[in-house]
Amino acid sequence: MKETDFVLPAYESSLDSGKAQWSAPSNIALIKYWGKYASQIPANASVSFTLTNCKTETTVAFKKRSNQDQDYDLTVLFEGIINNDFRPKIETFFSRVEPYLPFLKKYHFEISTSNTFPHSSGIASSASGMAALALCLMDIERQIYPKMTDEYFFGKASFLARLGSGSACRSIKGPLVEWGKHPLINHSTNLYGIEYPFEVHEVFKSYQDTILLVHKGAKTVSSTVGHDLMKGHLFAEQRFQQAKENLGKMIEVFATGDIAKFIEIVESEALSLHAMMMSSLPYFILMKPNTLQIIERIWEYRKSTGGQLCFTLDAGANVHLLYPENEKEKVKNFIDSELVAYCENGHYICDRVGDGAKKL
Ligand code: DP6
Repeated sequence: MKETDFVLPAYESSLDSGKAQWSAPSNIALIKYWGKYASQIPANASVSFTLTNCKTETTVAFKKRSNQDQDYDLTVLFEGIINNDFRPKIETFFSRVEPYLPFLKKYHFEISTSNTFPHSSGIASSASGMAALALCLMDIERQIYPKMTDEYFFGKASFLARLGSGSACRSIKGPLVEWGKHPLINHSTNLYGIEYPFEVHEVFKSYQDTILLVHKGAKTVSSTVGHDLMKGHLFAEQRFQQAKENLGKMIEVFATGDIAKFIEIVESEALSLHAMMMSSLPYFILMKPNTLQIIERIWEYRKSTGGQLCFTLDAGANVHLLYPENEKEKVKNFIDSELVAYCENGHYICDRVGDGAKKL
């Protein structure tokens, strides 16, 4: 689908009121998106595991307004309480998606949202939050325009979510989502995420992700600023090339279930992402001393036990532990005996690969 496909012909019917309710999961990138052009067009293609337990649930109730010329008419609730802190973000999102959703000024919207993961966990809720909101808006568009196909519905939901936050476009489907034009992946596009189209070995369909909460406070540098620092970055071109090659290599890894290779690529991607941060100007570090302690322990654990546990990082200090389901018991013992000491207040979240957003 092209960008122009996301503008529907004039709606034939209209609705006075209604509601839409969706939950969308978080995702963890294996090949990282870091560096972008305007409106979240990625500098390189990425691929992620969709998660199951870390998710945002959103309800959007809408009611026709009498005065439709004014700006957006929104009430925003977070965990049941009116929250005006999120309004600017949602208003910016509305202004970006309005060219594709011409009904946004016609209604009053009450947007009520909550996360299943703790508010101050340091886990970004922008991916799951933007994906859930995009799905609710698409649900409303489908109520007005019932003719649309599922392919259009989910493709456009991912396209809209991308306009809110790049990685959000990978939170619609699962278990693996690819986003960004890649020469080896037909139908891959910078506009929206697609379900990874090739063979996926059984082992990856139940992969585990335990998120060690090393630092729950706000990040010192936002992703948006970090992406921006890739402009004119000395190593930008090499990084985009590396990501492209790593995604190419992952095609065989996903098909064969070669976990040793998976570990090598995934850990290299995580460290390369943080190397980009450390070599930006101005430079910055989002890892904490405990992030490095955990990485050391993981490497020792692999060496001494032969276990297939590895880590990845997003733009923060928390560590995602990735491992096959059949190692769950052993890894749990390892976390509880050795890693929990590095987590803030001993907190971690157990998650696993999932199959995408759900209508509630
Ligand atoms: C390190 O999607 O949060 O998690 O598009 O500016 O909203 P914006 O950035 P965002 O960047 C995510 C970066 C990452 C890697 C990834 O998820 O691929």
